Amino acid sequence: MRLEGMNALITGGAQGIGKSIALGMAKEGANIAISDVNLESAQSTADEVSALGVKGAAIKFDVSNQKDVTKAFGMFTEQFGSLDILVNNAGITKDTLILRMKEADWDAVLNINLKGSFLCSKEAVKKMVKQRYGKIISISSVVAFMGNPGQANYSASKAGLIGLTKTIAKEYANRGIRANAIAPGFIQSAMTDILTDDVKNEMMSAIPLGEFGTPEDVTNAAIFLASKESDYISGQVIHVNGGMYM
Ligand SMILES: NC(=O)c1ccc[n+]([C@@H]2O[C@H](COP(=O)([O-])OP(=O)(O)OC[C@H]3O[C@@H](n4cnc5c(N)ncnc54)[C@H](O)[C@@H]3O)[C@@H](O)[C@H]2O)c1
Repeated sequence: MRLEGMNALITGGAQGIGKSIALGMAKEGANIAISDVNLESAQSTADEVSALGVKGAAIKFDVSNQKDVTKAFGMFTEQFGSLDILVNNAGITKDTLILRMKEADWDAVLNINLKGSFLCSKEAVKKMVKQRYGKIISISSVVAFMGNPGQANYSASKAGLIGLTKTIAKEYANRGIRANAIAPGFIQSAMTDILTDDVKNEMMSAIPLGEFGTPEDVTNAAIFLASKESDYISGQVIHVNGGMYM
């Protein structure tokens, strides 16, 4: 198993891509803390993790709230000890064209997607620096590279994650910390289920491989970045998009 005995914290791990990463990493032998604003779903995912024979726990917190984050990382340390892997996965959308976008829509998306990743990465780095080892994986998006009408806030937050990732990679490489990002394209999940058929058809026509991705496609990249196999890779972005952006 590629992650035997490692401890991972996955933000927004209750459902969708985060849940898939949690179960995928657990199957590779990692102990998993699922952190989410939705404690009920997080607990149910944690139960599925435990059923795989590793330690699973749910921790309720809002990634955009500094007090919550500090408290949650304290709880993680009490329950798990070391932190080997952080996955910054929690994210939201509030789509509309810029002229209609309210300041509150901008702030909500930037606060959760970007500031939340900064707050969690900071807590993780504090622990990883002492351990002289750690992997930080942030879930960005293809729209960070392409832009997307109606997603000024979301695209900006996901592009910001790339800058955050590269900076962590440079600041803490000498402490054994690797930071990388995954940029998924169109992945079947609750976030994309709400799109109209017209939008989905337009997206499909832009995907050379001719199919939408699955949460498992993203999970495979996350397991690789979390494992020792990728120890010489830092500050990089893995694109998981069926060729949608090259
Ligand atoms: N689905 C896609 O096509 C796609 C494509 C590119 C990137 N992504 C990114 O992948 C990640 C997961 O997406 P998904 O499709 O699984 O979404 P999802 O909506 O199914 O899951 C997101 C999870 O984050 C949690 N969450 C939301 N706000 C939170 C907060 N403040 N604190 C803690 N948890 C919070 C939610 O409760 C939920 O469990 C997101 O960052 C998203 O932007 C998704």
